[in-house]
Amino acid sequence: MPRIPDNCAAIVLAAGKGTRMHSAKPKVMQEILGEPMLSHVLRALEGFSSVWIVAGHGMPELLAAFPENNFVEQARQLGTGHALACALANPQIAAYDSLLIVNGDAPLVTAAELEAFVGQCSGADLAFAVIMPQDCAQYGRVIRREGKPVAIVEARDYDQRRHGDFAGEVNAGIYFIRAETAKMLLPAVNNDNKSGEYYLTDLVALAVGRSLDVRAVFCGKDENLLGVNTPRELSNAEEILRGRIVDKLFEKGALAHAPQLVRCGAAAQIAPGAEITGPCEIYGATVIGSGARIHSHCVIRDSVIAEGAEIRSFSHLQGARVGPNALVGPYARLRPGATLEENAHVGNFVELKKAVLGVGAKANHLTYLGDAEIGAGANIGAGTITCNYDGKNKFNTVIGKKAFIGSNTALVAPVRVGANALVGAGSVITHDVPDEEMGIARARQKNLRRKPK
Ligand code: UD1
Ligand code: CA
Repeated sequence: MPRIPDNCAAIVLAAGKGTRMHSAKPKVMQEILGEPMLSHVLRALEGFSSVWIVAGHGMPELLAAFPENNFVEQARQLGTGHALACALANPQIAAYDSLLIVNGDAPLVTAAELEAFVGQCSGADLAFAVIMPQDCAQYGRVIRREGKPVAIVEARDYDQRRHGDFAGEVNAGIYFIRAETAKMLLPAVNNDNKSGEYYLTDLVALAVGRSLDVRAVFCGKDENLLGVNTPRELSNAEEILRGRIVDKLFEKGALAHAPQLVRCGAAAQIAPGAEITGPCEIYGATVIGSGARIHSHCVIRDSVIAEGAEIRSFSHLQGARVGPNALVGPYARLRPGATLEENAHVGNFVELKKAVLGVGAKANHLTYLGDAEIGAGANIGAGTITCNYDGKNKFNTVIGKKAFIGSNTALVAPVRVGANALVGAGSVITHDVPDEEMGIARARQKNLRRKPK
């Protein structure tokens, strides 16, 4: 793969509102397979040592979602040319020799395509990626004279008599420009067009006017370079990416049933030999080990599922760790900080939050375990609740090894139940139960004669 030159910075244009999306969210924050569109673009730019995001509309939301990235503000969105001018006003960016500029609404572009593009731009003053999509109505049209690109004309400004013929070749919104060329030409860009915007694409005709080296480059699959402007395009892009990821899973040796319904995020790692049944959603930094089985209708995010573990249908996992051969669900909910050690079991309608279930421990039915530590081999009866919150603060519950908690028990934290201890069903436990002892805290049963009717 061609190497990215160190003196080339990448700029992502992401300040626009995305009016055609009809949403209050900034367009680049719209989700594709569980991640903002912008994450996908940034992933394709991982080979660049310097990446900058031009943000404007909804900038606080972007700053919060991408705290590690470099930002430039475009306070008013006056067009893509103006966005580039805002970037170049930053001396750190202006110091680079060349810039790769990518529209933030091209989430399908791959690192290989961007690197191939930069590879073809070596020595050019200005280059841009072109595609020939079936529907090119929304794109900037490439005008050639004697085979050479001379201008990009936005669809709404295009006039055949004035601009000449258009052969279906359009601008993908990916550009390479020498920083000096951009600084020289940007002041000449005006907003004398139907949108009243300063178009970055006007740089092409300006550069050609000065006899600079301007190139139109085919660098990848058309479908990977499509822009996302509308809800329909967002959904199409998501489906293309989904198919691409599932294909990769198959290539690596994961098994998938109903693969057309498996929605797996770009960052998820699924080992060869894992088995997944659609419909399901597996997002974020999830890692699934070999031999693990994910049944249908599960939603899993940022979780680690070890080899041989089984997640039965309708379970929701977020920020959870499931140990080797552990069993979860059906209908389980593992919230952040839920950890199941090897062979632990969590059954239906059980919720765990910041709770560790030790090796072989079981909570099989109708239970809430929050801020809790449960020892190896413990058995948590149906309907057990850790009362971890007093309305102000959270408190911990500790349950020792092989303890047995009878059904319908409320454990009022902070509280500790010792190893091998037993709690009688229906108890409200407010004091510690020592190791090996039995705690029972409920009214004694009385049987009374009924009043005659
Ligand atoms: C743009 C190109 C068009 C190309 C198409 C490819 C221009 C003038 N047109 O059109 O030739 O075929 O992309 O998809 O560039 N943005 C800013 N600041 C602004 C305006 C936009 O940062 O002031 C950002 C947007 O957030 C977006 C990107 O630039 O990520 C492109 O803007 P958009 O309005 O989608 O341009 P298109 O009309 O699609
Ligand atoms: Ca666009």
